[in-house]
Formats: sequence, C-alpha cells, structure tokens
Amino acid sequence: MKRNLIFLAMSLASFPALAKDGRAIVDFFSNPYQWGFLIAMLFLSLALYVVNKALNTIREISAPKAIEDPSVAAVEAATEEKPRSFMQILTDAKPIEKEADILLDHDYDGIHELDNSLPPWWLYGFYLSIVFAFIYMIRFHIMGGPSSEDEFNTAMAEGQAEVDAYLASAKDLIDENSVFLLTDAGRIASGKKIFDEKCVSCHLADGGGLVGPNLTDDYWLHGDGIKEVFSTIKYGVPSKGMIAWRVELNPGAMQEVASYVLSLRGTTPANPKSPEGILIEPAKEVQTPDTTESVDSTNISETATIQE
Ligand code: HEC
Repeated sequence: MKRNLIFLAMSLASFPALAKDGRAIVDFFSNPYQWGFLIAMLFLSLALYVVNKALNTIREISAPKAIEDPSVAAVEAATEEKPRSFMQILTDAKPIEKEADILLDHDYDGIHELDNSLPPWWLYGFYLSIVFAFIYMIRFHIMGGPSSEDEFNTAMAEGQAEVDAYLASAKDLIDENSVFLLTDAGRIASGKKIFDEKCVSCHLADGGGLVGPNLTDDYWLHGDGIKEVFSTIKYGVPSKGMIAWRVELNPGAMQEVASYVLSLRGTTPANPKSPEGILIEPAKEVQTPDTTESVDSTNISETATIQE
C-alpha cells in the first residue's frame, strides 16, 4: 500500500512537468486528455494495488506454516472475525477457506469452477456504462447534440479565426524586404491620414515639397520603388532633416504611408518644388505584391542631386 501511494504521489508530482511551456496548472486541467491521463494513472495505481495484494496473499498461503507454533491457530481464529477488507468489498470474493461452498460440481479434466458473484467494482461500472450510454443516446441522437462532424467544423472555424487574428497582426511584421505596394483603397486612405498628420509640414499636403523634396515628380533622391520609399521613411535621412519614422510608426503604418506617397506620383501639386535627385522613368508594369522591384534603380547614389 505504501509503495502504491508513493507511485501515485510521484505520478502526480510529474504533472507540472507535462504541462506545456510552463502554463498554469489550471490550464492543464482544462484539457480532457490530461483528465484521461489522470484517470488512467489512478486505475494503474489501483491495478498495482490489487496485484500487490494478490501476491501477498499467495505468499502467505504458500509460506510453510510452523505447525508447532500454537499462536497460528489463534491468528487464524482472529482472521475469521476480521471485518471485510477493502479488497473483499471490491471483489466480493469468498475467502479461500470458504471456497468449498461455491464449488460447482463440474469437473473439466480435474479443473473445478467456482460460482463467485460478480465483483461489485465491475458490476457497478457496468451499470454506470448503461446509464452513460442512455444519457449519451438521448443527448446526441434525440436532442441533437453536436455530431463529430459539427465538432470538427467548430474546431476548424476556431482555427480559422485564430489564423485571421494572426494575419491581422501580421501586417506589422512587414519590413523593407517584404514590403509591397498596397492597392487597397482603405489602407491607402489610412496612409493619407498619416501623411496629413506627420508629413505635410515638410512635404506639403499635395506632396509638392517644402523642406523635404517634391514627392510627385519623377526625380528621386533615394529610389522610387516601394521598398526604397519604405526604407527612406523607416530609417529617414537624419543628416538632411528627414525623420526616421520607425520610432513613431509601426511597419503597417509605414507601408500605408509609403503606398500613399507613391500614389501621389504624377499628380500636379499647386506649388511644386524643383526636382531633386535623379530622373527615374515611372514603371510601366503594374506592381503586384510579388514584383515589388520596379524600374531599374541600381544607378542611384545617395549623393546624386540634379538641380534644374
Ligand atoms: C522635418 C521635415 C520632414 C518631415 C516631417 C518629413 N520629411 Fe520626408 N524628407 C525630408 C527631407 C529634408 C527629405 C530629403 C532627404 C535628403 O535630402 O536625403 C525627405 C525625403 C523624403 C522621401 C524621399 C524622397 C526621395 O526623393 O527619395 C520620402 C519618400 C519622404 N521624405 C517621405 C516622408 C513621409 C512619408 C513623411 C511623414 C511620415 C515625411 N517624409 C516627413 C523632410 C521631412
């Protein structure tokens, strides 16, 4: 018994180790599989206990009895009166001394059969399974509880919701290598909002340029591709007065404002600043998320400045 308790205690002690990435023990028990595991553990302990007990009984029976010891009879007498042990309650088995009472008169080549009553632990488990089956049938076949297919669909929908939530936050995982030109009107509008708030003081509301260069013409200091414009906005040109916006704007916002800046190209501002940078012909092909590289901009150097 002591050994069983130690085994059970050790199994229980190992539980927190099984809980993934240090989550709370409460979390752990919300999982039906963990409950199954716990129950299996208890059953195993019980089975060990039963086996242990049986082994002890066999050992007792097979041990040679010291007949000359007068106390043996006294011990046996005491055994008669002993209250039923836990094992006896569990199995309702006749003690070996009384087996003759339930011996059937069949004789199979010398093998005899005992008419033991069904072990209560098994019998009540069986009744319980009948009750369970009954409730299960009513719940799932009459009252229309969710079928396996429904449960599958629910789980899939939950999974999809998680993916959507992740993708919604993924817009902030963009950097200058993965950025692409947005075409979604809503997000370009968000870009305009950011531009009106943060950029007009230097670039003017129509992008015509003031302290900063004209953003509507074909002359660029730092390249006209979405990746280049995104980089310029992200890292700025601190020595020239262009702020590094990454401290203030998250990547999604920088992608929006960069896309808005590029949408200004080719518009006619009221008061255009004279061109700075080098002439880059606008890309003919429509940009898609995969082909973010636009016109050949390899010959752009940061210092190239053409004033007209
Ligand atoms: C404090 C003034 C200032 C503000 C505010 C400012 N910029 Fe600039 N910006 C500049 C200057 C100056 C340059 C030119 C840098 C250089 O000479 O290299 C520049 C350059 C740029 C360029 C590169 C243009 C090219 O020819 O390559 C882009 C794109 C740009 N700014 C976008 C923005 C956006 C978007 C915002 C708002 C989020 C913004 N800027 C806010 C001053 C500013």
